[in-house]
Amino acid sequence: MSFIARRAFSSTAYNAHKVAVLGAAGGIGQPLSLLLKLNKDVTSLSLYDLRGTPGVAADLSHIPTNSVVKGFLPDNEGLKKALEGVEVVVIPAGVPRKPGMTRDDLFNTNASIVRDLAKAVAETAPKAFVAVIANPVNSTVPIVAEVFKSKGVYDPKRIFGVTTLDVIRSSRFISEIKDTDPTTETVTVVGGHSGHTIVPLISQSSHPDISGETLDALTHRIQFGGDEVVKAKDGAGSATLSMAEAGARFAGSLLKALKGEAITEPTYVDSPLYKSEGIEFFSSKVTLGPEGVKEVHGLGKLSPYEEKLIEVAKVDLKKNIQKGVDFVAANP
Ligand code: NAD
Ligand code: LMR
Repeated sequence: MSFIARRAFSSTAYNAHKVAVLGAAGGIGQPLSLLLKLNKDVTSLSLYDLRGTPGVAADLSHIPTNSVVKGFLPDNEGLKKALEGVEVVVIPAGVPRKPGMTRDDLFNTNASIVRDLAKAVAETAPKAFVAVIANPVNSTVPIVAEVFKSKGVYDPKRIFGVTTLDVIRSSRFISEIKDTDPTTETVTVVGGHSGHTIVPLISQSSHPDISGETLDALTHRIQFGGDEVVKAKDGAGSATLSMAEAGARFAGSLLKALKGEAITEPTYVDSPLYKSEGIEFFSSKVTLGPEGVKEVHGLGKLSPYEEKLIEVAKVDLKKNIQKGVDFVAANP
């Protein structure tokens, strides 16, 4: 390798980061891992799942980007090894919905999966940024937080619920109404990640003129967009490919933040916004930095329509959060 090539390589390595995907062989995990393999900020990709990761890792490892990909299984302390030295952990592990189910119906299965993975992260990579995809996100993020608290390593700035799918859906759906380029549409989505807890702030988009039945239909489509995919997949799961794109975007933002870029986007975090009402977690625009959450932004000026949506969202959110907290207390 020439001197110049060596310099170029080492400067890439200096700026790059180690990422782990837990649940990497699943419907989201595989395309998400592919997108992370293509991300130049990633130098090392650890893929962990109950099965299948050696094959996924071998497959991805042939892609000529600089990152090294390794697959891990539960045997031989695979989870611990997968987490050693990682700075970003993305968790899509867990079962998806079938038609007729709510995300909350997944709680009984996914709560213990997320709790156990969180224990391992708290023990081996307590300083990592943790991006939780597994549903119900409104409850699984509090579960991760409670586990970290129980291990004495909780840093509220480093645990995130991934709500980016609601954001990207909103861009697409609003562009379909306005016949615009979806890549130029930005909609802030706040609250949580299920049904009525998903609150798109259309009044703050480029199209505050959307009103009446059109606004009702758009809001409903954003809140229940996940159901469209669940229904179309007809028992074979929920959104995986759009979620992989959303998860890779969010993980990409965390990696940029680690490099010192100030990135601002919605995510579900330990939030001061409604703590006085007993709602510990809330999604709103958050500025990210090298230490994680740098600033949680307020919701800005809401329309009366959005104010009502927020009031409805808060009721479910409070229950969802408490359910996660109670679960860890009863099942440590
Ligand atoms: P999937 O069944 O295709 O994949 C899940 C993977 O998790 C499987 O490979 C499984 O082996 C693995 N897994 C299960 N238990 C594990 C454990 N203890 N350790 C490691 N891996 C484990 O499901 P999917 O379609 O990839 O969805 C995964 C989760 O993501 C679901 O809970 C789904 O509801 C959720 N989801 C969230 C969003 C969001 O916007 N946040 C979007 C879509 C799906
Ligand atoms: C989504 O929004 O697509 C995901 O949360 C998966 C689901 O269950 O709808």
